[in-house]
Amino acid sequence: MTATGDVGHAQTSPTRNNGATGLASLESARRRTFAIISHPDAGKTTLTEKFLLYAGAVAEAGAVKARGSRRRATSDWMAMEQERGISITSTVLQFSYRDHVVNLLDTPGHRDFSEDTYRVLAAADAAIMVLDVAKGIEAQTLKLFEVCRARSLPVLTFLNKCDRPGRHPLELLDEIEEQIGLRPTPVTWPVGDPGDFRGVIDRRSGEFVRFARTAHGATAAEEERVAAADAERAEGPAWRQAVEEVGLLDAVGARLDEASFLAGETSPLFVGSALTNFGVRHLLDAVIDVAPPPGPRADAAGEVRPIDAPFSGFVFKIQSNMDPAHRDHLAFVRVCSGRFERGMTVTHGPSGRPFSTKYATSVFGAERDTIDVAYPGDVLGLVNASDLRIGDTLYVDQAVAFPPIPTFAPELFATARPTDTGRHKQFRRGLDQLEQEGVVQVLYDPDGDRTPVLAAVGRMQFEVFSYRLAKEFGATVELYPTNHTVARRTDETTAAELRRTGSRVRILARRDGALLALFESPYWLARLESDHPDWCLEPVLEEMASSAS
Ligand code: G4P
Repeated sequence: MTATGDVGHAQTSPTRNNGATGLASLESARRRTFAIISHPDAGKTTLTEKFLLYAGAVAEAGAVKARGSRRRATSDWMAMEQERGISITSTVLQFSYRDHVVNLLDTPGHRDFSEDTYRVLAAADAAIMVLDVAKGIEAQTLKLFEVCRARSLPVLTFLNKCDRPGRHPLELLDEIEEQIGLRPTPVTWPVGDPGDFRGVIDRRSGEFVRFARTAHGATAAEEERVAAADAERAEGPAWRQAVEEVGLLDAVGARLDEASFLAGETSPLFVGSALTNFGVRHLLDAVIDVAPPPGPRADAAGEVRPIDAPFSGFVFKIQSNMDPAHRDHLAFVRVCSGRFERGMTVTHGPSGRPFSTKYATSVFGAERDTIDVAYPGDVLGLVNASDLRIGDTLYVDQAVAFPPIPTFAPELFATARPTDTGRHKQFRRGLDQLEQEGVVQVLYDPDGDRTPVLAAVGRMQFEVFSYRLAKEFGATVELYPTNHTVARRTDETTAAELRRTGSRVRILARRDGALLALFESPYWLARLESDHPDWCLEPVLEEMASSAS
């Protein structure tokens, strides 16, 4: 299925892009492009499904996610995801709601794929952080939220599963602030103790919104709003306690504040239960009412390209072989300015070569639909885009280069050797392709043999690499983990010095020529840094360097 509805399909014949001045601004103002991040099982899929239900993009919940034994989201297309019950890849949903166009970018829900999440967030203007009210922030996913903070994205928080016993929300507010450094500002607040959920106080109106269960939340339910005085009579002590807690929140100034939300410092918080639909509409309305529309984007030199400038966009994700029947190669492009029309010839920034967009599609799991028109905030899938790399800019007329998407400091390393030397060619082809997609980083010893060393943030990246290499390229691989745990960017001079210090450091090169120094112990690195402050040992991505867990 696809949820694109009629959005993004041209009624007009293609014309030159820059004739559409003003239209891109108008259209982008009604767009909201965001991602949902959560720990696996916190309810991301259920919430996504309910968004579609409330937007009228599906008639009944369950269309995205089959129940019981058929459990898997339509977007979980990859065999390994199905076998493991995890989401590795990500896709894009587009639907209309309240005369707006919502682009929902799916992120992999596992910390091992936080680099992929980071790339997706580069294409989002906001994020929703979904937490299970019984679990709060789980150590495993802290990294994903840190990634979000590192991008300074505005974040909405949804405390999910309030229909079940959980932790006290005041405790969760402290946890969010302490662990992520994001200050929650509750917009709705629960009435009733954990396990005895009665509904919420909507702090904007002071009304009580009564909780009602719908059978598995299959259809969108109307919410019952009750005036405060009536709520006091009906709910008694539960209501009084909630009012007292809201008083506490008022006293500490925990109120929705747009400026600090947009700066990524505070997070409007909603409580609810995606399964029973409760709170879903509040959250979706907040996406429209407070999440920012696409804004003008700064290029690598810091110059801002206006929304109405001719078409531009950048590649934030590459995915090949999504459709096993056609060995394809798909680049996901976030539109940043202008009007995109399918068939237009754009310039590929890094090579300066023309690129045809005849086969632009929307991307929803394994399903595709041609996309004829797109505006800032939208995501295009460009088919057979084998020359495109993550971070590449595409544009029309006025040249622009958007900043590259930083790669992460890898924390795990393994030497890769094909088990069958007769399939060396397939091994090389798979290695190149999977590196291009960012499945793993590939390093080489610049002075030694060309045996590749794979570098990753999480162990599961290696599993995906081996699995896909065997399935898609017919080459099996043996991985030999090394003892290195931390990498720094370095230069030739420091590399020479490091080599003289002995075997506890290894110098490897990325394909782009960047030199990485790999250390077995962060303490050894710290000692070298303090003994030789003039050496070049730069964190690969500074914001993430402290988050190794
Ligand atoms: P994920 O994408 O973040 O991994 O989570 P997903 O939506 O798949 O939800 C994980 C489990 O939590 C599912 O149960 C789902 O029904 C349940 N869930 C989601 N939201 C709520 C909620 O608000 N309240 C309650 N009580 N449960 C919720 P499951 O048993 O694993 O699958 P299923 O058989 O229900 O599909």
